[in-house]
Amino acid sequence: MTHTTSILSPTPAHLAQAALLLQNGEVVAMPTETVYGLAASLWQEAGLMRVFASKERPQFDPLIVHLSAEMAADANLMATLVDFGQISLIWQKQVAALMVAFWPGPLTLVLPKTAKVPDLATSGLPTIALRVPAHPIAQALIQATGAPLAAPSANRFGRISPTTAQAVYEELAGRIPLILEGGPCEVGLESTVLGWDEMGNPQILRPGQISAAEINQVLGMAVYEAVLHPAEIQAPGMLKNHYAPRKPLFLLPPGWTPTQPLTLPVQSENQQWSLHASSQAGYLLLAGDAQALSRQLNAPVITLSPDGDRALCARFLFAALRSLDASEADFLWAELPPEPTGLGHAIANRLCKAAGV
Ligand code: TXA
Ligand code: MG
Repeated sequence: MTHTTSILSPTPAHLAQAALLLQNGEVVAMPTETVYGLAASLWQEAGLMRVFASKERPQFDPLIVHLSAEMAADANLMATLVDFGQISLIWQKQVAALMVAFWPGPLTLVLPKTAKVPDLATSGLPTIALRVPAHPIAQALIQATGAPLAAPSANRFGRISPTTAQAVYEELAGRIPLILEGGPCEVGLESTVLGWDEMGNPQILRPGQISAAEINQVLGMAVYEAVLHPAEIQAPGMLKNHYAPRKPLFLLPPGWTPTQPLTLPVQSENQQWSLHASSQAGYLLLAGDAQALSRQLNAPVITLSPDGDRALCARFLFAALRSLDASEADFLWAELPPEPTGLGHAIANRLCKAAGV
């Protein structure tokens, strides 16, 4: 599985080269508006196997299937993927309204699948996760390949999702043949994942840029957030210790200000890290002047935005975690957005997972 990994600009020739690789059961990393994905053709078992192998992803973690806008509008193809016979009329109307409102865009819909969808892509689940990415390079690649592309985030399992081509290279160099360069991702957090429970009620399985409030407005009813018990792996992205830097990461107490002293977290038996009084902290903060804060705290500091703007915080979150991971800090403190809704909630979700809480 050794490769020379190229980062190529998305010229028509390079897109054709990428599409040919995918048609032949290879994998290609592509930009999307959320994070970079590691794509394989849904119809190439060898490609699907390579996605799991190159990410070291366990096969119980299902992939999201990406469609071009043309494919999503093709009733035959949709019926090849989704078993509409299994879903009620109300549910079908909800799906149609959500597609109109949010596709292309960062909303993934989990729907009953047909027997034609390979079990490998869905980890044997009876459902398929579908989304239409808004990024023009992803759209062009899917169309050029002529097949839906199964694509998880292009990071090794459990690590931070990549939001630049360089970050994909750091994660997967030597394991994949090609990364398409698409610049930094605009959203910065993975898509909102929406499913339906046994009663047919919509539920958010993973929060993202598209908020519960926006979904509620389209559906005219309240969606709820799935509360998962560890034993039910419904949406494995919801497992703890995802999106994790290599260094231990801890959440700052709510309302913390830089003048307040912090006490080192107490180490429990099963934790692998060991910290002492002279361990160097690094700080990930939502707002402020990073240079001034760094002098004040005598530590590496990254602020995600000048004034706390949540769209900027989301966009730079994963790049900031990567850069603090590469800094001189031995461990990291991160500030949690306090609000329970919207993008702040999605950011807090990723930081809690990075902290393993
Ligand atoms: O924004 C995104 O969604 C990015 C880009 C590349 O599109 N993709 C992404 O994929 O985040 P990944 O593999 O890192 O996360 C996919 C998650 C799974 O971990 C799981 O939580 C959920 O999507 N998922 C996929 N198929 C599912 C299914 N059949 N039922 C429930 N959840 C599913
Ligand atoms: Mg992922």
